[in-house]
Amino acid sequence: MTSKRTVSGIQPTGNLHLGNYLGAIRRWVQMQEEGECLFFLADLHAITVHNDPATLGANIREMAAALVACGIDPDKAILFRQRDVSAHAELCWLLNGTARIGWLNRMTQFKEKSGKNREGASIGLYAYPVLQAADVLLYQATHVPVGEDQKQHLELARDIATKFNADFAVELFTLPEPVIGGPAARVMSLRDGAAKMSKSDPSDMSRINLTDDAETIMSKIRKAKTDPEPLPESVDGLEGRPEARNLVGIYAAMTDATPAEVLARFGGQGFGAFKPALGELLAAKLGPIAERLNALKADPAELDAILARGADKARALAAPTLAAAYKAMGL
Ligand code: TRP
Repeated sequence: MTSKRTVSGIQPTGNLHLGNYLGAIRRWVQMQEEGECLFFLADLHAITVHNDPATLGANIREMAAALVACGIDPDKAILFRQRDVSAHAELCWLLNGTARIGWLNRMTQFKEKSGKNREGASIGLYAYPVLQAADVLLYQATHVPVGEDQKQHLELARDIATKFNADFAVELFTLPEPVIGGPAARVMSLRDGAAKMSKSDPSDMSRINLTDDAETIMSKIRKAKTDPEPLPESVDGLEGRPEARNLVGIYAAMTDATPAEVLARFGGQGFGAFKPALGELLAAKLGPIAERLNALKADPAELDAILARGADKARALAAPTLAAAYKAMGL
């Protein structure tokens, strides 16, 4: 019945870095070439933990600008803010009647995020996966690119879709497939090969920000933590060398090569040779992104227009499914 349709959301955070780019954004950019895509800023998900209104607004802009700067083309993919399409919240409420407390109690992300303070967590945080199910079921998504940590939420979306279809004897919702892995790379801190690159690391030297200029990038890579050995000839030799593995992985991801191919070229050479090559590569690839990002941040009207157009298209695609869900339930 349905042809391929990709839907995914990303929480708006500020201070985007290389880890965001290689982990999620770049994959979206590739997917927009392979079929119909809807990508949104999950701002309704962002408010399930306490948020500072001023920061949230700035982060939404920053993330939208970064997506476009990194190559999301609003003429190819539908890019919008979740809260601009009220059908997400509406369908979430309808699906709250289908989702079971027992299912949500098994969600590991809720357990992690609520921690010891489970009783004090918001209902929104608890129902977060139901909203996520609504996000994709609303559009009859067939493919949903997500990180490994979101697999369980996608399984829940499938369970909700199956139960809704069965309970109301309709063939309404398409079961979405998670798309995990692919060209996405896990980028680690430049100061500690065991920690993920993160915007909350107190040291700015631990990450490459998408707005860093060439000189900053070169200096961060030059000062990145490494070991004294030269690079190995094969991937096996990266065992037990997390920092070397990370830098090789970054080089590979940025050139669409495998780590083995990178080592075929740089194996046997020291970091004195590899680091400048990596720094120059990053500066060359990220330079145009930073430029576009800064231009978009300086032109909020253009950004707003892009998001408004995206929301119009998304609303039109969502309307029939939402109407059918109301009808199936007798409303
Ligand atoms: N929960 C996702 C994350 O943290 C973000 C998200 C919200 C999402 N809604 C979605 C991802 C729908 C895919 C589809 O990464």
